[in-house]
Amino acid sequence: MLSERIQQIHTEFESDISKVSDLKELENIRIKYLSRNGLISSLFDELKNVAKEDKPVVGKSLNELRNHSTNQFNVLKEKLESTSSADGEKIDLTLPGVTKVLGSKHILTQTLDEIKIIFKGLGFSVFDGPELESDYNNFEALNFQPDHPARDMQDTFFISKDFLLRTHTSPVQIRVMNSHQPPVRAIMPGRVYRNEAVSSRSYCMFHQVEGLYVDTDVTFAELKGTLVSFARQFYGEDLNYRFRPSFFPFTEPSAEMDITCYLCHGKGCKVCKQTGWLEILGCGMVDPNVFGFVNYDAEKYTGYAFGMGIERTAMLKYGITDIRVFFENDLRFLKQF
Ligand code: DAH
Repeated sequence: MLSERIQQIHTEFESDISKVSDLKELENIRIKYLSRNGLISSLFDELKNVAKEDKPVVGKSLNELRNHSTNQFNVLKEKLESTSSADGEKIDLTLPGVTKVLGSKHILTQTLDEIKIIFKGLGFSVFDGPELESDYNNFEALNFQPDHPARDMQDTFFISKDFLLRTHTSPVQIRVMNSHQPPVRAIMPGRVYRNEAVSSRSYCMFHQVEGLYVDTDVTFAELKGTLVSFARQFYGEDLNYRFRPSFFPFTEPSAEMDITCYLCHGKGCKVCKQTGWLEILGCGMVDPNVFGFVNYDAEKYTGYAFGMGIERTAMLKYGITDIRVFFENDLRFLKQF
């Protein structure tokens, strides 16, 4: 009987469609039931054999079966399409996500951040100044005599007769002292330029951190205490150090601070040129002549200053042997920090 076949196919359809989990399986359902040669169409073909008086009832249930299954098919199709990608592939929600690649701080920035944290802890504030400086701030007010070799065109990028790219961060000392009365306790980081041949040891541009402390009764002992405290925090507690007499026009007396060579631990090697020591900074007591240039009373105030290269500092701490790697932006280098 056709009405029984309708019932049977209805049940079969319900069971088949309940098992569908992707568009490919759904397409098989369409072919099996709803296509031109599908089971439901074949039932319509059989309708002509049904007795005339039964036709309205059987025809109605057959229509209902077709509408119901077409409906079910469409609803499921829409649902499956909305959770599938354009090419019909299923989205696998268990796949790991795509992580966004985040940049990280350049090793020079990390090094400077660390230096800043240590000096802030010692009571220093942070100032900066321009990279384009006057000859006056860069040299004259720092007590460089007019014929000092550092003023030579070989070392300095002059912009004009009176302006240049600063060759060190020391001119920021002049700016800070011109705008602040003592006590002044500041570090001044920044980029500096030198007209030097580029090699593994020198670059035409690098970074320095300047330090300055001016007050009544500032002593050389305080300078040493502060710098040793810095070096221990930065390079390690068990560090050995020494201060060597040196010369800078803007400090008197002047010194350079060395730490034990990180490579040979003092025995002597290529990096420390067999001395066992590595120079980390220059320092000294502010020359009274400099106070004259900024109108500080040299009878009343004393002060110390120091300056160190940030590249050099990072090279010593991490054993980097070529200064050029800081500026090449090679990810294989940058990613190591
Ligand atoms: N400005 C010096 C240089 O570039 C470094 C320096 C030495 C800075 C001694 C100082 C200092 O403040 O006291 O070589």
